[in-house]
Amino acid sequence: MSYHRRETFLPFSRPVIGQEEIDEIIDSIQSGWITTGPKAARFEAELQAYNGVQHCLVMNSATTAQEISLQVLGLQPGDEVITTSLTWVSTLSTVILQGGVPVLVDVDRKTMNIDPLKLEAAITPRTKGIIPVHLTGLPCPMDEVWAIAERHGLWVIEDAAQAMGAHYRGNKIGNNPRSVMSVYSFHPNKNLTTGEGGCIVLHDDRFVDRVKRLRFHGIETDAWKRFTKDGSPHTEVMEPGRKANFMDLQAAIGLHQIKKLDGFNARRGQIFRRYLELLKDIEEVLLPWEGDEVLGHCFHLFVLRMHPDKLGVDRDAFVAALKEENIGTGIHYRPAHFHHFYRGYYEQHPEALPKDGLPETEWSGDRLMSLPLWPGLTEQDQDQVVAAIKQVIANTKAQSTVML
Ligand SMILES: Cc1ncc(COP(=O)(O)O)c(C=O)c1O
Repeated sequence: MSYHRRETFLPFSRPVIGQEEIDEIIDSIQSGWITTGPKAARFEAELQAYNGVQHCLVMNSATTAQEISLQVLGLQPGDEVITTSLTWVSTLSTVILQGGVPVLVDVDRKTMNIDPLKLEAAITPRTKGIIPVHLTGLPCPMDEVWAIAERHGLWVIEDAAQAMGAHYRGNKIGNNPRSVMSVYSFHPNKNLTTGEGGCIVLHDDRFVDRVKRLRFHGIETDAWKRFTKDGSPHTEVMEPGRKANFMDLQAAIGLHQIKKLDGFNARRGQIFRRYLELLKDIEEVLLPWEGDEVLGHCFHLFVLRMHPDKLGVDRDAFVAALKEENIGTGIHYRPAHFHHFYRGYYEQHPEALPKDGLPETEWSGDRLMSLPLWPGLTEQDQDQVVAAIKQVIANTKAQSTVML
């Protein structure tokens, strides 16, 4: 079949928002209540039911959710927290902003998630906790992580920003109390979006009021009620807090997204598996793993890793060539320790990197790219992505033959 470039640009992700979400937003606007209020409270209840947990507290982002988690757990200056570099930088920056040191452990090549075999060597007397990142929506090997954490008296906060709807041993990510908290993101690319937003799932009742307080100026809990008929007009500030509350306008979207989430994830799974099938004979790329009974993927991202040695070009050139073909891709992620600030930071803190470096993180970090994946992607879109990949590979090979 002859190749035709796609006529319009295909982004790597796009939120799927229906008329229900739009009507609900209009309802909020017309009701006169647009910031945190009854819909935010209802959305929290829906999230709790979905995840099978008692407490799920919403706020403006997963980044703030992680900042507040670390503060509530009492992270002190100089305390160490173990995580991976193949993540969004907020996993590390929230630790640093709290005065802590993010200590990096390498990832496993197959999953791109924390390698439990390398975890224990990173523990020192200053280690307080571990933040495993469920990258791409594929869960980390939590039994191994929990066993190590428990042996050393460490807490675990799961960075589940990408993992809404993922399962571990048949249970929703975040609903096992062996992790003190888990944080999720509702950013527009995520499996469930509210525009921006995030939440903390937690199991210990003692932390609930503190988290509620810290997301809203340190004011006594449920302060939004002061503008209702039953509320007192007075506020009492208990400590300095953030302005990180979640609006009813966001909840209006979330209340409908959560009803669609399982359907969205099933469709994502179909697209993911169809990519696996369509790309299986291309030896220039390494395909992602689809998970299994234990590690239940929610198919947030489909990440290819290019073999530059077989292709003759690096990832960035490949991504640029695909863009010329009107195919958008994402990079999830450029390893955090490659960024300007973190290069300097780890020069100052060499003890926070393994002695033999992060070879697997860097191997994947140089090669990875995320293909278009969202529930509304059509088979025709997908065929065009695959055709463009094959075309770019053919062009690249033809060029390297000419150069020879
Ligand atoms: C792994 C990971 N952690 C944390 C975050 C931060 O989420 P948010 O944008 O909601 O702050 C993201 C978002 O992209 C992420 O992918």
